[in-house]
Amino acid sequence: MKKMILGGLGLLLILTACKPMNSSDDFLVIGHRGAMGYVTENTVASVEKAIDLGVPMVEIDVFRIRSGELMVFHDDRVDELTNGAGAIEDMFVTEVKGLTLKGGHQIPMLQEVLDAVDARISINIELKGAGTAAAVNQVVNYYVQHRDWKLDQFVISSFRWDELEAIRELNPEVAIAVLTEENPIDAIETAERLKAIAINPWYKNLTAEQVTAIHDKGFKVFTYTVNELEEIDQMKSIGVDGIFCNYPDRAL
Ligand code: G3P
Ligand code: CA
Repeated sequence: MKKMILGGLGLLLILTACKPMNSSDDFLVIGHRGAMGYVTENTVASVEKAIDLGVPMVEIDVFRIRSGELMVFHDDRVDELTNGAGAIEDMFVTEVKGLTLKGGHQIPMLQEVLDAVDARISINIELKGAGTAAAVNQVVNYYVQHRDWKLDQFVISSFRWDELEAIRELNPEVAIAVLTEENPIDAIETAERLKAIAINPWYKNLTAEQVTAIHDKGFKVFTYTVNELEEIDQMKSIGVDGIFCNYPDRAL
């Protein structure tokens, strides 16, 4: 009997040791700009595709335009991705809505994406443009108060740490992730001040030591943009909590 119990304990120890640092249960796969590997980025259709693929969260980018709306778009200028030209922040909503994206899609407003998702999954809103914090906070509050969304379904991220400061002042509860292209260790101080939940670094050159150091400070690490299977495995092996992926089905 004693032998059996000891044998069982041994097996348990081996199984625990064999469990990857991040099993698929706690590894978050975030559809990048929807599922931009399959459908034009930052569109309702791309977000729907990501949901169809089974993601628990999508990421989108937002700018605030001249007439005040929050538009879901990645580039400063519309030249590359649409049939038009110019800086998106200088445009009125009628102009932006007149643009056509590859595949015949339109640039959506943030509210159109939130209406389409309808709280089925979580969303990471990246504040791409300046002056977005207050307007995004208003929209988030509206969807939490008047629709089925819960506050914990939102994460607000940005490379513009001043925008994150602004949203934290307005909203002490919303989850914030600090985006960085530099050494992610340098983001820890800001993440602490902002009471962020995560530091989101570029995956190239990211090390297990950096991930551990960030974890030790109590922050998660979601890294971007990881698309190849080998890289996905590599990121799992260094212990990140999740990835942004253009082809989310590859990581799910
Ligand atoms: O939030 C991760 C990632 O989206 C940041 O880079 O340029 O794709 O917006 P970018
Ligand atoms: Ca982004």
